[in-house]
Amino acid sequence: MGQILQQTGHEHVEWFEDPKSRLKAIIALHSTRLGPAAGGCRLWAYASAEGAVADALRLSRGMSYKNAMAGLPLGGGKAVIMRPDGPFDRAALFRAFGDLVESLQGKYLTAEDVGTSIPDMEVVRTRTRFVAGLSAKPGRAGGDPSPWTALGVFNCMQLAVERRFGRGMDGVSVAVQGVGHVGLILARLLHKAGAKLVIADADLDRARGVAAELGATLADPSTILAADVDVVAPCALGSVLDERAIAAMQAKVVCGAANNQLATDADAEALLHRDILYAPDYVVNAGGIINVTCEFLGEDQSRVESRMARMPMRLGCIFDRAETKKVSPAVIADELARELIENTKRVPHDTRVAS
Ligand code: NAI
Repeated sequence: MGQILQQTGHEHVEWFEDPKSRLKAIIALHSTRLGPAAGGCRLWAYASAEGAVADALRLSRGMSYKNAMAGLPLGGGKAVIMRPDGPFDRAALFRAFGDLVESLQGKYLTAEDVGTSIPDMEVVRTRTRFVAGLSAKPGRAGGDPSPWTALGVFNCMQLAVERRFGRGMDGVSVAVQGVGHVGLILARLLHKAGAKLVIADADLDRARGVAAELGATLADPSTILAADVDVVAPCALGSVLDERAIAAMQAKVVCGAANNQLATDADAEALLHRDILYAPDYVVNAGGIINVTCEFLGEDQSRVESRMARMPMRLGCIFDRAETKKVSPAVIADELARELIENTKRVPHDTRVAS
């Protein structure tokens, strides 16, 4: 493990196995420089332990950058649980995971992610206070982060459209890939703003229902990124912006919620060469983690809104710097995130977490 840490720059990686609950988990702390390493807990059927470790390392670094760029007093971390084969006791699994989080004494703050939910985090809460993504209390931040993620993407898309086309969202055509928790709310916001929608989802019944609700055109999930639209919003899977997809793209703006949209670093360059304005994923999808952070810190909803109001402003700075330096906004976002992490004096953590 020591070698991995040296190569990837992670501060700490914890591998944990508990045969009784069948928990096999990795918690990766990429950086605690800005505060406790925060990032969700993913439950996934990984083919191998190596695959799970690689995911935890990649995702935790992404969280460091996302949290720094969102101006949050948090470092970056991620937990990955290998989904046990066959039936398992879900509550026992998350109780054991809660004990693991507690053992890190506030260096890591968890929340829900792909494959986990509010009820799971409620179980984790019975073992540790270093958890968010719980049911919202009246007037307080909390609950499902997806509506905040969708709102942040929408606000950033408005800015990107203004930059690229010099207009508002009314009449702009947008292809939304994946109308799940985030994509559906984003599509509703876009519909309300007068955008023309093209949508696709791997779940055809879901896609049909959303298309009927919003008067959207239905597309095939495999070709939606090549739709004849102004904007594409990847809101399903990562690594969708690859050489082939970029070559076929007709849109001039990419702005969506999915994490790790670029298949490789070279794909940021490919978008630039095709004159497609790319709004870096972790800059525009930070609404959810902002909500989760406010919950950790015991802040109210108005604080979520004021923190979120700065997102399009930051994106604007990234676009400006990218234009001046003639590089991809993705390169500038990474540069800025690293600067923010490296130039900030290490802060003592744990004390600011709401109890
Ligand atoms: P979700 O699981 O609710 O929705 C994803 C949707 O995409 C599902 O309806 C699924 O059927 C569909 N889908 C899967 N493969 C597809 C394909 N090839 N083509 C079209 N549709 C496909 O997930 P959620 O929460 O909406 O998240 C969407 C993305 O945004 C994920 O990449 C997630 O990591 C990212 N994200 C989510 C945040 C949140 O607050 N939920 C925060 C930040 C990022």
